Amino acid sequence: MNFLLETLQVLLMSLVYSLEAFVRLFIPPRKKNVSGEIVLLTGAGSGIGRLMALEFARLGAHLVLWDINEDGNKETARMIKETHGARAYTYTCDCSDREEVYRIANQVKREVGDITILINNAGIVTGKKFLESPDSLIEKSMEVNSLSHFWMYKAFLPAMIAANHGHLVSIASSAGLIGVNGLADYCASKFAAVGFAESMALELLAMGCDGVKTTIVCPFFINTGMFDGANTKWPRIMPILEPEYACRKIVDAVRREQVYVYMPRSIYIAIVLKKLSENYTGTCLQCQRLLEIESACISYLTQ
Ligand SMILES: NC(=O)c1ccc[n+]([C@@H]2O[C@H](COP(=O)([O-])OP(=O)(O)OC[C@H]3O[C@@H](n4cnc5c(N)ncnc54)[C@H](O)[C@@H]3O)[C@@H](O)[C@H]2O)c1
Repeated sequence: MNFLLETLQVLLMSLVYSLEAFVRLFIPPRKKNVSGEIVLLTGAGSGIGRLMALEFARLGAHLVLWDINEDGNKETARMIKETHGARAYTYTCDCSDREEVYRIANQVKREVGDITILINNAGIVTGKKFLESPDSLIEKSMEVNSLSHFWMYKAFLPAMIAANHGHLVSIASSAGLIGVNGLADYCASKFAAVGFAESMALELLAMGCDGVKTTIVCPFFINTGMFDGANTKWPRIMPILEPEYACRKIVDAVRREQVYVYMPRSIYIAIVLKKLSENYTGTCLQCQRLLEIESACISYLTQ
């Protein structure tokens, strides 16, 4: 195809997809049934990991719970049993340890079966200015928040590709879209998580593997305790999210096979502002400083 035709095709298809996205704002796709799916969640022992586990159990999915915190993980399984009468399989695993991931993944395949929905949720934050952060903690952030996703995909994606069925969910952050003062290593790890999940989604499409879906989740602060003390300058526009709300949005997005989930919606505006001012580096950074993401974070760091 010649250059002109290809350019026209790209422009036309962009228009078609934009129109489709617009229509979907008013008529969202139907939610898929996740009953009987085998869902693996990392970081299932607390926060939104626990809430998502409970929600997927309510919807009839089989749960495989991974966490480094054995007690928290068992508590999630107990809550699932108590609330939904279902058994959840618990595994104590440090998902940043590649060999441990591969070993426990093999155990899961033997004991439960192939995972069909993988939710990379485990995450940590250093909570210090970059130059004050110990090297070991910076490395750990990268290992837990992004590198672990590589090992999880390596362990569980081949079976999804073979069946052309599955769903990969990356719990990243709005800090994976916009740099934030005081969260340098966290942002770097979340930018990596977003870039990895997006690239893998494209790799799967290019392979013709259209049955394996991807959802990339980028929330602002959630009231789980991870960012205790953070507050927001404009709570109406950029509220600190309630964990139950965030969980509901994520599970809905997975069921509707939505690729990107930014929460709250004002994150979309922040991204547009950032992109608009990116032509002028100085202004872009000054403009970004005005975003309340910045002030929320400073209040967290100065606790
Ligand atoms: N809380 C927020 O404000 C917020 C905002 C945006 C994104 N996120 C992301 O959402 C995810 C969940 O966060 P949360 O708020 O529920 O935090 P949380 O601290 O309540 O939960 C994180 C869980 O991950 C587990 N974990 C940590 N390191 C692990 C490891 N190496 N291996 C296995 N498990 C490990 C912890 O034990 C914990 O149970 C994280 O990836 C976080 O970065 C959180």
